[in-house]
Amino acid sequence: MERPRGRLIFLVPKVAEGGLRAFRRLLKRTPVYGLYKALGHHPDYWYWIARGRPTRSPHLLKQKTVREYGEKYGLRTLVETGTYYGEMVAAMRTRFDRIYSIEYVAELANRARQKFARHPHIRIFCGDSRVVMPEVLALLTGPALFWLDAGYYGWVGKQGDQQRLSAELEMILSHPYPHIILLDDARGLIGQNGIPSVSDVKSYVESKFPQRQVEVQFDILRITRRT
Ligand SMILES: C[S@@+](CC[C@H](N)C(=O)[O-])C[C@H]1O[C@@H](n2cnc3c(N)ncnc32)[C@H](O)[C@@H]1O
Repeated sequence: MERPRGRLIFLVPKVAEGGLRAFRRLLKRTPVYGLYKALGHHPDYWYWIARGRPTRSPHLLKQKTVREYGEKYGLRTLVETGTYYGEMVAAMRTRFDRIYSIEYVAELANRARQKFARHPHIRIFCGDSRVVMPEVLALLTGPALFWLDAGYYGWVGKQGDQQRLSAELEMILSHPYPHIILLDDARGLIGQNGIPSVSDVKSYVESKFPQRQVEVQFDILRITRRT
């Protein structure tokens, strides 16, 4: 018969894990959750390096990519879809003159509005990115950097809209300014169940907009100007 002490050894990590999950759930309801998440960015990055740079990339690398593309193309406006806890907005706060971010979940959008209330160059929009995008595009007076990160392949509540990504790409690429687009989680482009593959997106963009080129690196699909 197994001795109770033996069972305890297996139980301790489970209890600790459960406790951590409960703590995180509690923290999520407080305004400091974004800060708590940001504290994990560096360890997350080094853990990713230690694991040999797997496909799913850490947030710090995403921030670096957004920053670098903004600098490379001299873009002063950032448009983000999917605000979430405002981590990208916070990280890019001083890097862009204007930041527009669209969030579907009203609670998250309101939270971000409060968080960035002291920064008049940051505007948080609430709604479906496909619906709100024309309003944001109408505000632009020159080329911008787009960070598309709004759970395009089945985020809770919006699983039905498989056309959202292509609709947004079409709107942005048809706009009069030569915008640069970064799409996160390119691994989600699986080419099944109505979701396009990377090569579908590449051939669609490059044939319809011959001045553009598409490539994927570190799980980020990049639509830039053909040089
Ligand atoms: C991966 S998180 C975004 C992370 C954030 N961009 C960052 O870099 O810190 C995805 C977010 O997209 C939001 N979202 C999902 N569907 C959306 C839609 N149709 N329109 C706008 N936001 C949406 C989710 O509520 C969630 O907050």
